Amino acid sequence: MEIFDTLESEVRSYCRLFPTVFERAVGSRLFDEAGRGYIDFFSGAGTLNYGHNNPVFKERLIDYLRRDGITHSLDMATRAKRELLERFQRVILAPRGLSYKVQFPGPTGTNAVEAALKLARKVTGRSHVLYFQNAYHGMTLGALAVTGSAAKRRGAGVALLHTTPIPFEGDLGGRDTIEHLADLLANPSSGVDLPAAVIVETVQAEGGVRAASFDWLQRLAQLLRRHGILLIVDDVQAGCGRTGTFFSFEPAGITPDIVCLSKSISGFGLPMALVLLRPDLDVWAPGEHNGTFRGNNLAFVTGAAALDYWQDDAFSREILRKAALIRQRLEKMAADHPGLCGPVRGRGLIQGLHLIPDGLGAESSHAAFQRGLILEPVGPNDEVLKILPPLVIEEAELRQGLDILEDVLADVAGCDLVGPLSGDAVSSPLSPSLA
Ligand SMILES: Cc1ncc(COP(=O)(O)O)c(C=O)c1O
Repeated sequence: MEIFDTLESEVRSYCRLFPTVFERAVGSRLFDEAGRGYIDFFSGAGTLNYGHNNPVFKERLIDYLRRDGITHSLDMATRAKRELLERFQRVILAPRGLSYKVQFPGPTGTNAVEAALKLARKVTGRSHVLYFQNAYHGMTLGALAVTGSAAKRRGAGVALLHTTPIPFEGDLGGRDTIEHLADLLANPSSGVDLPAAVIVETVQAEGGVRAASFDWLQRLAQLLRRHGILLIVDDVQAGCGRTGTFFSFEPAGITPDIVCLSKSISGFGLPMALVLLRPDLDVWAPGEHNGTFRGNNLAFVTGAAALDYWQDDAFSREILRKAALIRQRLEKMAADHPGLCGPVRGRGLIQGLHLIPDGLGAESSHAAFQRGLILEPVGPNDEVLKILPPLVIEEAELRQGLDILEDVLADVAGCDLVGPLSGDAVSSPLSPSLA
């Protein structure tokens, strides 16, 4: 690890959580240089929904490269982009009755969010945007201004303006947060300027795996429509099938004005992002939101291939079946360790186990890593273990990962832990079957 420690900036973080040098990965497993295997309950923070090196996408990519296909094209028209757009319309938009226009911003989630915020402000002529407590929308200045985490916001170095946080579902205890928002918007003395937009994650991922109810989302959409406020759904992490449907908002029966997609939209870990916008909102002037890497054609090739999974509803049903399995196992773990575990949260294949004692989320993630399982602690105090396996994970691997998690919790409970875990308590050898 020496070159990383001496040369790479202190800003790195995931390598501290998973301190090894990874070399290759297949399906739902990563392997490090020493040949140790790890089950992946992390999926590149939601980028590898279709697994590592998905063999079908890999073949299409290799074939495309062999034919000297265009790799970089800014926003010029290419065959790979046409095929992606045509398939996206045919497989995703049309069957859902959605008539969005598609914008390619720079190839990151935060860039999609920047574009969505800019567009909402331009269309409405209003500068203010509301976002939810615990939200995470990215690290560029506009996206940071709608992100809750104080630690992340501090990094901005400037005031983050023109936004106001509002409580997410459940944040006010017994008080309904949509009613609260309705009051803020109706009261001319509330101090909240009429916003251009409200941006929401249907499942707050980094914020602690908090899934909004469909009823809450419906009432949010209705309220915003009544006030002429645009609804932006940030589906960067919860979209692309993560919750069981292609878009996370589908089962709520809402149609956002603007949708942000990234992470798994390329299907292969290649950078790409999309902003979907209501056609009448497409008031951009040419080049008004720009970026050198908008034309990542390799991502278009694998992104088009990934849409094969969505030709019918078989994949959705499979995701929901695995989600039920995870949920049942997590509920059992929570019931077995009432002093350690709070409620299980989430929807589809983004599930969270709330751990009660301070610091336990990070320590349990560390312990799981040592046993050959990769998963991330999230939430304001890293108190929630986020279970985010590839959607294509084999059931046997899923069970194996859950077994490791169960062992970690049993160890932790055995330690009667209040402070940090001792490394020795969890350094049992990796299961040989993982290597
Ligand atoms: C909901 C959501 N929005 C935006 C982002 C930012 O995406 P990126 O890291 O690609 O900029 C993330 C990243 O985790 C996310 O989870």
